[in-house]
Amino acid sequence: MVSEPLFRHDVSDCLAANIGAHGLSDDAYERALVEAEPFLETLRGSRDLALLGLPGRSDDLPGLETLAARYRDGFDDVVVLGIGGSSLGGRTLCALAPQGRSPRLHFMDNIDPGHVEALLGGLELARSGFLAISKSGGTAETLAQTLICIGALRAALGDAAVGDRMTAIVAPGPSPLRRLAERHRIAILDHDADIGGRFSVLSATGLLPALIAGLDGRGFGAGAAVVLDEALAAPTAADCAPAVGAAVSVGLLREHRLATTVLMPYDEALAGFALWFRQLWAESLGKGGGGTTPAAAMGVTDQHSQLQLYLDGPRDKMFTLITRPRDGVGPAIPEGLSGDPELAYLEGRALGDLMAAEQRATADSLARGGRPLRRIELPRLDEPALGGLLMHFMLETIIAAGLMGVDPFGQPAVEQGKRLARDYLADGAP
Ligand code: PA5
Repeated sequence: MVSEPLFRHDVSDCLAANIGAHGLSDDAYERALVEAEPFLETLRGSRDLALLGLPGRSDDLPGLETLAARYRDGFDDVVVLGIGGSSLGGRTLCALAPQGRSPRLHFMDNIDPGHVEALLGGLELARSGFLAISKSGGTAETLAQTLICIGALRAALGDAAVGDRMTAIVAPGPSPLRRLAERHRIAILDHDADIGGRFSVLSATGLLPALIAGLDGRGFGAGAAVVLDEALAAPTAADCAPAVGAAVSVGLLREHRLATTVLMPYDEALAGFALWFRQLWAESLGKGGGGTTPAAAMGVTDQHSQLQLYLDGPRDKMFTLITRPRDGVGPAIPEGLSGDPELAYLEGRALGDLMAAEQRATADSLARGGRPLRRIELPRLDEPALGGLLMHFMLETIIAAGLMGVDPFGQPAVEQGKRLARDYLADGAP
């Protein structure tokens, strides 16, 4: 049961009233919120939309938990085969798993030959399990990965080993991945035909890897349900955090041409989340010559890599900082080791004190410099909090798509690239 707020969402430092002329004017903000109302209303009337049904769905969980237990008991390593939305969601959730847990989860994703060889070369195949995930069942990268793994298993352990060690998640209906799975007696789970890869994180594509990693699958759904219910129950767009986020992003694009949106979590466990957001925002909104460019950053690391640009470069970005309370957390910085009075500010402090001071300093510097800044503060990072964040950004993206006049759910340009690559290979060319 989730009781305290999962996170605080504050856009006040995106507004001209707080940060000056480079912020969003009250008028433009108000207009974008009014414009967001019908899209919020559409969502309220779309509770039957497959994506919005995911947080409340528990009928598939017992089966997934049983399968996950089999993977946990049987394998030291589990490799998730798939790319894009079929990989990033699971990777995002699994980042919450404590380091050193067995089995180790690997997300193959890229088909860089050296990366694939190194990953497979490091496995004891007899103690390795595989999940092949593709909604379409026709993605060349995923098929190549799956064929290579089937080949390796057969060569090392024989035909029968393949079905014992691999599961496929693929949409119903004929597809190359489904045929391959049937041919090699690989168990098949149906991918929801109505949910595209980047929106599928709270379905089996994300939850099965997370359950294998020992995480609480129900917790993700519970957090997502809280955010969804709050958003849809909000009386106006101004009371609905995802609509507010969408209105600010689109308002800043229109009023100040802020065409880049930077997501900068101050937590290594959210590195995958930032990449997941980057895909969600880019692939859902980058259509018909429109959209804004998402950038993933990491605090504090990118303070020493990107912050110069963020604070002093072109005024073409809005920033979302995701922070957590860090005071007093982590190893103590030893006292008396340096003998240097210049280090007095560090010695005896917890490492988290430094992190807390830095995240605060970055946020305040951005706001003082008139760089539009949204603050998301997470009291804790666990399954419900991450589920809530994921749902927030899916809703925000859908509402932003409404404001931009695009359909968030297709990816025609990606499909065109996939087709072209297939044609090149079929013609015998690389
Ligand atoms: O979000 C999306 O729809 C895409 O990124 C897909 O996930 C990606 O192209 C892989 O497609 P598929 O799941 O069909 O293999």
